[in-house]
Amino acid sequence: ADPGPLQDFCVADLNSPLLVNGFPCKKPENVTSNDFFFDGLQKLGTVFDFLNVNLTEVDVFAFPALNTLGMSMNRVQFHPGGENPPHIHPRATELSLVTEGKLFVGWVSTAYILYWKILTAGQVFVIPPGLVHFQLNVGKGNALFYAFFNSQNPGISKLAPALFASTPLIPDPVLTTAFNVNKTIIDLIKSRASVLI
Ligand code: GLV
Ligand code: MN
Repeated sequence: ADPGPLQDFCVADLNSPLLVNGFPCKKPENVTSNDFFFDGLQKLGTVFDFLNVNLTEVDVFAFPALNTLGMSMNRVQFHPGGENPPHIHPRATELSLVTEGKLFVGWVSTAYILYWKILTAGQVFVIPPGLVHFQLNVGKGNALFYAFFNSQNPGISKLAPALFASTPLIPDPVLTTAFNVNKTIIDLIKSRASVLI
């Protein structure tokens, strides 16, 4: 969750040279009604990644009016078999509404318990902040959900590239020890992980 605002609004000036926690505000006299509307979700995304997912982020970068307001959203589209792979949001709880298809949704607590469900249109799920979660399209057709976050910039860290495709790479001995496997296995995963970023 983000800190609360100290004014009605603070439409982000994304081009400001200042670095702050969030963005500086556009001058109020330059703010118009249009700043508070985001246009674009009526068209479905057409570019799908290696995992057959299209992610459209409506965060402070896409919609500067969200600056200081502590909220944002994503639209996540899946082709058949598509997966939003295990990831965390360091700064937000996720509350999501499935609107199409059949999704296997799961998250893992800090006690390493997997909580999961297969959801269809009209059903909602919640992911506590910072915990590992994923969604897999287990239906025959496409699937779609809308995620809402209590941060203007929830952040996303996917586990596979974080561990196996960082810059520079995490040295093999760290990973062979952590996963209790030999270097061949770690190198095999590393050789395939860079496409997942
Ligand atoms: C879904 O988990 C998302 O982060 O959009
Ligand atoms: Mn998520």
